[in-house]
Amino acid sequence: MRIAVAGKGGAGKTTIAATLARLTARTGVQVVAIDADSNPNLGPALGIGAAQLAGNTHLPVSLVSRRLDGAALTTPVDDVLRSLGLPGPDGVRLLCMGAPGHAGEGCLCSAHATVSALLADLDAHRDIVAVVDMEASPEQLSRGTVRHADVLLLVSEPYFRSLETIRRLAALAAELSIPHVAVVANKLRSADDAAAIGAFCERHGLSCWSEVPFNDEVVKADLAAVPLLDVAPESGAVSAIAALATRLGEVELTL
Ligand SMILES: Nc1ncnc2c1ncn2[C@@H]1O[C@H](COP(=O)(O)OP(=O)(O)OP(=O)(O)O)[C@@H](O)[C@H]1O
Ligand SMILES: [Mg+2]
Repeated sequence: MRIAVAGKGGAGKTTIAATLARLTARTGVQVVAIDADSNPNLGPALGIGAAQLAGNTHLPVSLVSRRLDGAALTTPVDDVLRSLGLPGPDGVRLLCMGAPGHAGEGCLCSAHATVSALLADLDAHRDIVAVVDMEASPEQLSRGTVRHADVLLLVSEPYFRSLETIRRLAALAAELSIPHVAVVANKLRSADDAAAIGAFCERHGLSCWSEVPFNDEVVKADLAAVPLLDVAPESGAVSAIAALATRLGEVELTL
């Protein structure tokens, strides 16, 4: 299953993607976490140290072949996972999209194509769960980077501009025919927050699969640059993400 995590800047995509990836891996499933943000942060959120990340090889653009029906990998996906996957806690492997190395370098179309090709080829590996941490931009949907996702999680905070963002993203996801699109309401501080997101979802025909509370532990973990799961495994946020992982495990994939 290929799960993409999108939403407005700062909504909590990386926190949720990393925690979800590790909790899923703990159930014995093979998990690959894909950092599809050109400003990458998924490694530290998973608990992969700076030294390990420093030697990291990004998905090279030479990995992509352009076919008439879209991008595909030039190398078998197993080889890509073995050679480029960074081992992380709980057995999660991390793959990182290329990021800009220098100013004035130009666009990142080819880097995005590596993620698209990887997701396309993972279709043949239904036993692997891929969790893609996306950039805070509609571009990965307008480019079609995550067109091969089975599930798109739209992370939103309880405020209007964050909700408007997921409404726009949901419209783009519908054009890509992503089979399952679900909202993750994050940073909820009150029942009113939850009700406001619920009402928004109902108005716009969106389905909300998870309500994650605002927890100070999440902020503290981020400030200390340690994974939430390691420092606050009993927090409400982790419990909610664990429930989301269970919900995702029940998704029926169409072949
Ligand atoms: N449930 C939560 N409770 C409290 N703080 C949270 C929660 N979820 C995320 N945060 C905090 O919000 C900030 C942004 O989180 P995160 O980096 O996961 O968001 P993002 O959507 O990936 O951001 P970006 O768009 O920059 O990639 C971090 O400081 C994080 O600790
Ligand atoms: Mg992020």
